[in-house]
Amino acid sequence: MGARRGIWRRGRFRVWMTGRGQEPLIHRAFHEKTGTPMIDLSKYAGIGVQFEAETLTLSFGSGVTTAPVTVRSLDEVRPMLRDPECSGPEHLYTIYMDVKAPGVTEALGGRGLGYGAVVYNHGVLGREFLRSQGHVHSVAPETGVGYSELYEFWHGRGLVYMQSSGEDEVEDVIVVEAGPGEKVAIPPGWAHATVNIGDEPMVFGAVYAPAAELLYEPLRRRGGTAHHVLADGTLEVNPAYRRVPEARRQSPHTFPELGIAPGQPALVALGRDESCLDFVSRPDAFPGLWERLTRGS
Ligand SMILES: [Fe+2]
Repeated sequence: MGARRGIWRRGRFRVWMTGRGQEPLIHRAFHEKTGTPMIDLSKYAGIGVQFEAETLTLSFGSGVTTAPVTVRSLDEVRPMLRDPECSGPEHLYTIYMDVKAPGVTEALGGRGLGYGAVVYNHGVLGREFLRSQGHVHSVAPETGVGYSELYEFWHGRGLVYMQSSGEDEVEDVIVVEAGPGEKVAIPPGWAHATVNIGDEPMVFGAVYAPAAELLYEPLRRRGGTAHHVLADGTLEVNPAYRRVPEARRQSPHTFPELGIAPGQPALVALGRDESCLDFVSRPDAFPGLWERLTRGS
């Protein structure tokens, strides 16, 4: 079959295609109404999704639904910042919770799991890189173990900051830089925040346990995590903590023992094995996984 070129209308997008054979190469897409560029993140998400950087929004494919979109503003997170009076982008991030997609929604719900996606703006908040507020997950009443969470990055470059507790004296700190196709799991009981360390917006998906309560207060009363991730690339100890160890840098996490291939979207892995993400909702059942991930170099 010869080369094909043209405008292909699909849902809300116009996709400019060029290529050879039955699967043309899609190299540019534009939003139908605004004319702004769209970036196809479907191969990282495992579901149809397009990203519009200019508006920090996602548009999902046919049959995919989400909870109403939430936008987190700078004013909402000021108490969590190193410099609460700082200037910075007013629109910090856009949150899509409770993503439901054909073929995976029942599997997620049946395992006590949910799926969400977040778009982060980029830039600085005072001397810090733009970041989330940070929180700790509640513990499951039946096990006394905190719920986990799995991040998988779709676009841009992020840093996941993890500290072993939200208390004054922190035993351990791990930071993981990740990009498209890479994953990071939050060990049970660890406080965590996500930082955009790149020079463009960042997008990631997250497998979470809807039963988990997100506890913000432990970090809010100390102005954030045990280190501030500064825009010059350094970590600065937060003086509100009494004990802060040196942060350990780890590579993105992989899950060979769970049959999840490197780069495989979590939702695709779930379609092949409904139990492979149980460590998020039942972290008590995976002590070996947490021992390995927290021990890593
Ligand atoms: Fe979380």
